Amino acid sequence: MESVGAFVTRTTWHDARVTSVTSSSAPEVLVVWGRGSSSGGPDDLLRHAVAAHLEMDPGEVQTGRLCPRCASSDHGRPVVLSAGRAAGRGEQRPVHVSLSRAAGRTVVAVTTAGPVGVDVEHVDAAGFDTFARVGLHRDETDGDASWRTRTWVRKESLVKATGDGLMVDLRDVQVTAPDDAPELVRWEGHDAPGGVEMVDLDVPGQEPGQPALLASLTLLFPDGASRAPTVITTRSAADLSDR
Ligand SMILES: CC(C)(COP(=O)(O)OP(=O)(O)OC[C@H]1O[C@@H](n2cnc3c(N)ncnc32)[C@H](O)[C@@H]1OP(=O)(O)O)[C@@H](O)C(=O)NCCC(=O)NCCS
Repeated sequence: MESVGAFVTRTTWHDARVTSVTSSSAPEVLVVWGRGSSSGGPDDLLRHAVAAHLEMDPGEVQTGRLCPRCASSDHGRPVVLSAGRAAGRGEQRPVHVSLSRAAGRTVVAVTTAGPVGVDVEHVDAAGFDTFARVGLHRDETDGDASWRTRTWVRKESLVKATGDGLMVDLRDVQVTAPDDAPELVRWEGHDAPGGVEMVDLDVPGQEPGQPALLASLTLLFPDGASRAPTVITTRSAADLSDR
């Protein structure tokens, strides 16, 4: 797998500062970035990310798809079908995953804290003329292409976390302005998804001349907000052991 450089950081979603804080009670999310040209494809990356998060052998992890709409296993949200001896680590909770691809990069997110959604897009992805008519809530303000795309990736990470995908109307979703801390303000006509944490992710390994990307992640706590700040660990695919 192609190296994207060494960038192992441990960050909290609130301020994304590098920190060494870990807490056994803090929800943890592993975010792994790969290159589209990597061998094995997104499911290989998913398996290795799940294995890294649960400290197990990738060979013990099986992933698949499950469409929340039609129950097909040919498409839909990525799911962990089995994770070997994960229970032996005390992880009795389901393992939640999400994946996204853009401009030759792939990002996957893994957590046992709750349903997760991740989205990455080229910075200009939402720069099309009709964006405001299809993607903006009436109380959201419009802006330039990167402003719109930040709004878009925040919303898409949310609807991927809930499993709705783009079958729901993003105009019903209001998020905070891109220059404010990411947050779901309201989702009209939709049951409250419980506690919601939204995070703007740094995209590591971005180099001059390569497409600039924006990424966001949403973590759901069906029983309400988490009491401890979520710890997000970012790694490159090349950093995962035995790749
Ligand atoms: C999911 C979706 C938002 C992805 O949009 P995108 O920006 O083009 O693509 P991304 O690279 O960010 O994400 C693609 C990944 O999203 C995941 N995904 C697909 N459907 C999903 C859902 N309902 N919830 C969460 N994740 C989903 C898949 O892992 C997919 O990767 P894959 O092609 O390897 O399976 C969009 O394609 C969508 O809404 N699809 C569902 C449409 C649907 O429900 N149709 C009804 C079928 S019966």
